[in-house]
Amino acid sequence: MSVAGRMPSQLEVDSWPGRERRSPDRSDRHYLTLKPLAEQLKSELERLLPGRGGLRVLDIGCGHKPYLPFVADRASSYFGVDAVEGPLVDAVGVAEELPCESASVDLILCTQVLEHVDDPARALAEIHRVLAPGGAVLLSTHGVYLYHPDPPDSDRDYWRWTHAGLVRVVEQAGAWERIGIQAQGNVVACLGYIVAQFVDELGQKLPGRLPGRMLLRMVNSVAEWLDARLPPNARIPAPGSLSSNYLVTAVKPEAGSG
Ligand SMILES: C[S@@+](CC[C@H](N)C(=O)[O-])C[C@H]1O[C@@H](n2cnc3c(N)ncnc32)[C@H](O)[C@@H]1O
Repeated sequence: MSVAGRMPSQLEVDSWPGRERRSPDRSDRHYLTLKPLAEQLKSELERLLPGRGGLRVLDIGCGHKPYLPFVADRASSYFGVDAVEGPLVDAVGVAEELPCESASVDLILCTQVLEHVDDPARALAEIHRVLAPGGAVLLSTHGVYLYHPDPPDSDRDYWRWTHAGLVRVVEQAGAWERIGIQAQGNVVACLGYIVAQFVDELGQKLPGRLPGRMLLRMVNSVAEWLDARLPPNARIPAPGSLSSNYLVTAVKPEAGSG
């Protein structure tokens, strides 16, 4: 695992792909979910594994490993598994049958993948198996979003979640401590996010890129501003709330605890 999962140099990290996911522009159609997701991933990494270095990281459904720079200075290895080959994929494999030994990693990232897997419960059980005691998982997936099969020519977009359903499938995978759930925005951001997808499609039909980008910037700004001002009874986990995306986090108990 250490060879395939070797850490890139600082130079490589500085120009690592996926900036549009780590730091989306306000005119990006995914801004309303990816901006809060990036902020929450960074703060959860600090909170769940404070001061820990030498982390053995596993990125499931890694694609281009967009969040590697968030942990690069604390990781000793970064191993990417994906169902599809790619330039940054270390092993082709599925989340339901991870090509990793039990208790062999300290941190698992699994961002925007669970909606595409055949069997989410089995994937969570595998995540629990390969995590070492004291290790943490950070997993994000959709609450409400358009049908988006991955690969695009497949039917592989199977699941959507509520905050409670996502916590439940994690809980059922094994013994955990400190399960946490956060939404990436609430009802106005969710509606704005859906609108943004269609605005982007429309923008691509307009002459030049600027009008579409300006429209998206406006939708994203208004939705973000309004969403931040929603009262608590319109926010996750209140009944009647809604979110486009969730980040669930959990820590595997140290051996002998609990
Ligand atoms: C939307 S992309 C997310 C990529 C990356 N994690 C990110 O946040 O940008 C979904 C990825 O999950 C992969 N994938 C789909 N089903 C999978 C499975 N069952 N096991 C592992 N990876 C899977 C796809 O090939 C794709 O790279």
